[in-house]
Amino acid sequence: MNICFGGILLVYLTGVINAKPRNKWRFKVKLPMDILATQESLDEMKMDIDSKLDELKATVNMQCEANTMLEKQIVRFTSENPKADHMYGSLSGDLTRSTKAVIVIQENLGMTNEITERALKIAKLGNFVTLAVDLYRGDIAQNRDEARKISGELSWDGAVKDIQGAARYLKSRGIRKVGVTGFCFGGAMTLAAASLTDPDLISAAAPFYGIPNADRCGCDLNNIAIPVQGHFGENDTAMGFSSPAEAANLEMLLMNISNENVVYMYRGAGHGFNRIGGTNYNQPADELSLERLVEFMNNHLM
Ligand SMILES: *[C@@H]1O[C@H](CO)[C@@H](O)[C@H](O)[C@H]1NC(C)=O
Ligand SMILES: *[C@@H]1O[C@H](CO)[C@@H](O)[C@H](O)[C@H]1NC(C)=O
Repeated sequence: MNICFGGILLVYLTGVINAKPRNKWRFKVKLPMDILATQESLDEMKMDIDSKLDELKATVNMQCEANTMLEKQIVRFTSENPKADHMYGSLSGDLTRSTKAVIVIQENLGMTNEITERALKIAKLGNFVTLAVDLYRGDIAQNRDEARKISGELSWDGAVKDIQGAARYLKSRGIRKVGVTGFCFGGAMTLAAASLTDPDLISAAAPFYGIPNADRCGCDLNNIAIPVQGHFGENDTAMGFSSPAEAANLEMLLMNISNENVVYMYRGAGHGFNRIGGTNYNQPADELSLERLVEFMNNHLM
């Protein structure tokens, strides 16, 4: 092929490539309509994808909600108790949704399944976090005598340090305010902790049917500087610990500190009226007292 013919061919091909499509061509392939149709189907597709994404997001959110609600998760934290530099507790509630937490102190049997279940129930009722603390470090008494023996040998000073360790642990997990509650032995321990702890660390206390002996706990309840809500049974026969006479004295003492402190007496209720399965379980008193407890904690842990 000579150079001249090659040059003409090149000019022709360039012309073909650069040529604008003629009208009849454009009409024949319906180019604008095709683009319009494509745009419409793209919009449809986009809407479809968007709605699928929304569905997906809703599912993921639901699963996230389920995943962030902790139920009786065993956690380890440090304590200044000389007995051991760490201890365990049972954590319930949603740390991503609440800045309030309540430490739940066991009865003298130890950190039983019943008490961790109660802590979980309180977390759900109050929409806050609860931490049941294992003050016996794994021991669970098999009967009342064993319970009295273990609680009798416990160092109150050490136990209060454990409770303070629990409060610091909760704050390290993003909790802003911590309250404390406890039942029977734990009720007495609640008041001891309330009188021996900086109000910045523990902000509210709700003891159930238990009052510490001043000598035993090395504490003076007149020093309590945080709001207190007490719960006692009208038919509690634990003399020297939680009988109506002692509850009335406690009420006087607390009222002397602040007229916002309150002690509730439950009609017809005996000692341990919150313990499901216990001989004195009293459902109306249990429900009413827990309702009052969560309201009190929600108000004072703001
Ligand atoms: C409970 O105590 C009240 C007031 O002392 C008394 O009237 C009532 O009989 C007691 N109930 C029971 C079941 O012991
Ligand atoms: C309460 O205060 C009054 C008056 O100051 C006092 O007489 C009383 O003993 C106090 N009661 C208690 C239980 O502390």
